Amino acid sequence: KKRIIMFVVAATCISGAVTAKKVAPKLTFDAGKGLSGELTMPQGQQLKYTAYTKLYFVTQVEDSTYQYLNIFVPEGATQSSPIFMRTYVGGYMASEAGYPQAGDATGRALQEGYVVVIPGSRGRNSTVKRGKKTVYTGRAPKALLDLKAAVRYLRYFDKEISGDAEKIITDGTSAGGAMSALLGATGNNPAYEKYLVEMGAAPVRDDVFASVCFCPITDLEHADMAYEWLYGNTSSRQALANITAKQISAELSALFPVYVNSLTLHKPDGTPLTADNYLAYIKQLLIESAQFAKDAGADIPDSIGFRFSNEAGWMPPLNGGVMPSLPTKGNKMPAIQKKQVGEYITDLDMSKYLNYVSDVTALKGVPAFDSYMVGGAAASGENGEFGDASGSNANFTVFAASKTGKAIAENVKENVRLLNPMNFIGDDRSTVAQHWYIRHGARDRDTAFSVPINLAMKLQNAGKDVNFKLPWNRPHSGDYALNELFEWLNRLVK
Ligand code: DHB
Repeated sequence: KKRIIMFVVAATCISGAVTAKKVAPKLTFDAGKGLSGELTMPQGQQLKYTAYTKLYFVTQVEDSTYQYLNIFVPEGATQSSPIFMRTYVGGYMASEAGYPQAGDATGRALQEGYVVVIPGSRGRNSTVKRGKKTVYTGRAPKALLDLKAAVRYLRYFDKEISGDAEKIITDGTSAGGAMSALLGATGNNPAYEKYLVEMGAAPVRDDVFASVCFCPITDLEHADMAYEWLYGNTSSRQALANITAKQISAELSALFPVYVNSLTLHKPDGTPLTADNYLAYIKQLLIESAQFAKDAGADIPDSIGFRFSNEAGWMPPLNGGVMPSLPTKGNKMPAIQKKQVGEYITDLDMSKYLNYVSDVTALKGVPAFDSYMVGGAAASGENGEFGDASGSNANFTVFAASKTGKAIAENVKENVRLLNPMNFIGDDRSTVAQHWYIRHGARDRDTAFSVPINLAMKLQNAGKDVNFKLPWNRPHSGDYALNELFEWLNRLVK
């Protein structure tokens, strides 16, 4: 009896497979299949929308839990409304397509009349069962490929879906901020094409209009050196009992100047940004951030290194004292002429400030990203991100390779390259987004300040419209100061 049942099951499977082969799967969107929904905002306002959910954005679905998107069309949206695409990727992990949230940028986007899109994407932890085998489906660069396929889907069905696919704004935080930066930097780049074809992504462009990046954890292969260069002299690093860790920190730190000089960046005033003036530039950005907050009523303590204009001998400077760093449309400078003695921040002791940042939230270990002891418990999430479908961990930096004596495999090198937006800005095969909104909190220590600064500078040097700040007192977080974000966006799209 058992045998007969097994035969029937097997026969059904085979015939199922045959039918699936005959009918090539197609991407679909049915405008008649929307469902009404509602989101209650914090002030009680009820936002009505039409939801289109579980729209698969590739024809060759490998992981049906993640490879689809949800669309939310607010009342009053038209074909020319902007599209706000929010990825909830965090920690380079998989992210399931969800619903708009009253407390974040998706709720606000709906309220502003934007069409909201929430795509799912595979990630370093997503798996499927193939027979008895567990297969990891989302190691680098799969999350990005899914998100690019989502952009293509929106453009493929642009006429059918409300909103304008030429006004796609991407938004994400942390690893999601990195994904948003990648979507902005890698538009239409042929390096991703063969993978997208294999997946059955729509055969259309995948560039976007604007990229919103909160604390992007990116430029991973240079993040360790940047981290030790910035934090290597802090008390907690100097107090490391582990001599090897201390030594590694110093070795990594020594690599940063060569890297940052190789970027040949320029500050907004046109002068070169180099290893020699880099710390002074970070200081300038932090002073501006604190000054802006102070003007808005924040209490900036001198215990964390700030000096004020009430110190003996201080004279109000003729030009107002505070040098603008990135004078873009969105960066409002304080009304400096009106200030009284005592209201200017005149200096910042960087050593004190960096100790403060590393005291409020303990620093990451050494190295912060590419643990070269990947076999052990010390493997980082990033080691997993660059591992393979068997669930392995992999090193991804030249430094780690020098320590292990094992070269980085060519395919890993290529995945690392494909996951770094820095490689695609200034590449004329990329259509880089024209507009960028980049934020990294002034007390965020998940990656060094130089990571978002280099990203912002490279974009600005490439002629892009960049709105960049290190917002005062912000830890590692995203979707804050939404008035500021949507004032900036509305000027661009409305
Ligand atoms: C995230 C945070 C990290 O510190 C990191 O290394 C990678 C990702 C995150 O919050 O997404």
